[in-house]
Amino acid sequence: MAVMDFLAAYDAIPEDDAPQRVALLRRSMVAGRAALFAELRAHRPVFSTPVGVFVTRHPDVLEVLSAPETFTVGVFGPTLEDVLGAPFVLARDGADVHWRERGYGQLMLAPEDAPRVRELTARIADTVLDEAIGGGADTFDLVQDYARLAAARVALAYLGLTGIEEERLHSCTRRMQWAFAVNPDRDPEIHAAGVDAGRELHDLVAELVDRRRSGGPAAGPDDVLGRMLRTRLPAEYDFDDERVTANLVGYLTSYQQNATQCTVTALKELAVRPEALVEAERAAAEGPARCDAYVWEALRFHPFVPITPRLCLRDRVVAAGTPRQTVIPAKSVVLACFASAMFDEEVLDAPAEFRPGRPPAHNLVLGYGAHECLGRYAARVIVPELVRRVLLRPGVRPLPGAERALDYAGTPFPQHYAVRSGRVAVPTA
Ligand code: HEM
Repeated sequence: MAVMDFLAAYDAIPEDDAPQRVALLRRSMVAGRAALFAELRAHRPVFSTPVGVFVTRHPDVLEVLSAPETFTVGVFGPTLEDVLGAPFVLARDGADVHWRERGYGQLMLAPEDAPRVRELTARIADTVLDEAIGGGADTFDLVQDYARLAAARVALAYLGLTGIEEERLHSCTRRMQWAFAVNPDRDPEIHAAGVDAGRELHDLVAELVDRRRSGGPAAGPDDVLGRMLRTRLPAEYDFDDERVTANLVGYLTSYQQNATQCTVTALKELAVRPEALVEAERAAAEGPARCDAYVWEALRFHPFVPITPRLCLRDRVVAAGTPRQTVIPAKSVVLACFASAMFDEEVLDAPAEFRPGRPPAHNLVLGYGAHECLGRYAARVIVPELVRRVLLRPGVRPLPGAERALDYAGTPFPQHYAVRSGRVAVPTA
């Protein structure tokens, strides 16, 4: 079936045969999500299905994510809190935890850290790449041997959690993310594995927090944990070291798989466009400024979070006053489709073209609205620098003909991506 026929095929299935309709939807998502979204944007921009209401146009996605009092994170919030074992900013809306701890996170994950985090990332990335290449094989695995390790080492150094093994951080956050973000059928085994992993990571972080606390009031270097330990909030906030731990575990969980996958998918999106790759290599050699734009444009084509779900608490009109105006009934799951909004031809000029330097408002890779990425200042330097360090090594590239060959190995996230390990001198930009 051509994907353009999706709506005809969907409508041909009787409305009461929800399993068939859902199966077709899932198949079409896998077979050709971009074409499916294009068809929805054109013909059914607010599309109600048994798994939720797909919101596919750019302004409508922004509208949903700007109204957290109506469209809440209630779809995954309770599961996320099960997994974290504590309240967390991404699991709540409203006046208490979300408002307060988002403010706290903004102070702790400070924008002024960015230059230091950029340098840290460059240094760590080069070391990990040297290790991967030094293995002596003609190829290495960009996910396992580079992105996963480099992302973990950067997070641990930046947050102040050095001492936790990279492998454990990666494996815990993978099971946690799988349980709260990609377990549509609520498989109890996946859920239980996520809860166990959450406990494991919590205990590792709590021990480090304790150790740093007992080293003295201003203990430790100038990292995020040091800043947290020096911060005194009024007693009425009841913000003890358990909250410090919960926030750090939440940050690690929000970061590790994202950073790993973005590094790999950005490189893949460049590699499948040879001209863009050559330009990105040139930009990389000049420094970060121009190169970063190539990475964010690449991620528009393969974002880590393509869809974010929200729970609609009360009947609400979306896209009021337009031909697509739709009432979303209370209790609906609303699927805000970032991956579609970033290709909205009524907002973006020639969205299918690869054009670095598009207006930042068109790029929703770090989310939008009340829950927009709290770690965005760090993410904005870590992800592009992890990619740039690879671009600076012309010998390290996906295997010719296998540029699209991400291997998910039965999980929701890419686990393997083979690259050549050509031994070419490292430029020092
Ligand atoms: C590395 C690449 C990253 C990507 C692609 C990314 C992406 C995102 C996205 C799409 C959201 C919105 C989720 C939603 O609306 O459902 C989000 C939220 C969040 N991110 Fe990131 N993120 C990254 C890095 C980080 C880092 C470095 C941190 C912290 C150290 C972090 C912490 C958070 C937190 C706490 C939230 C929830 C904010 C809230 O609920 O108010 N992220 N991120």
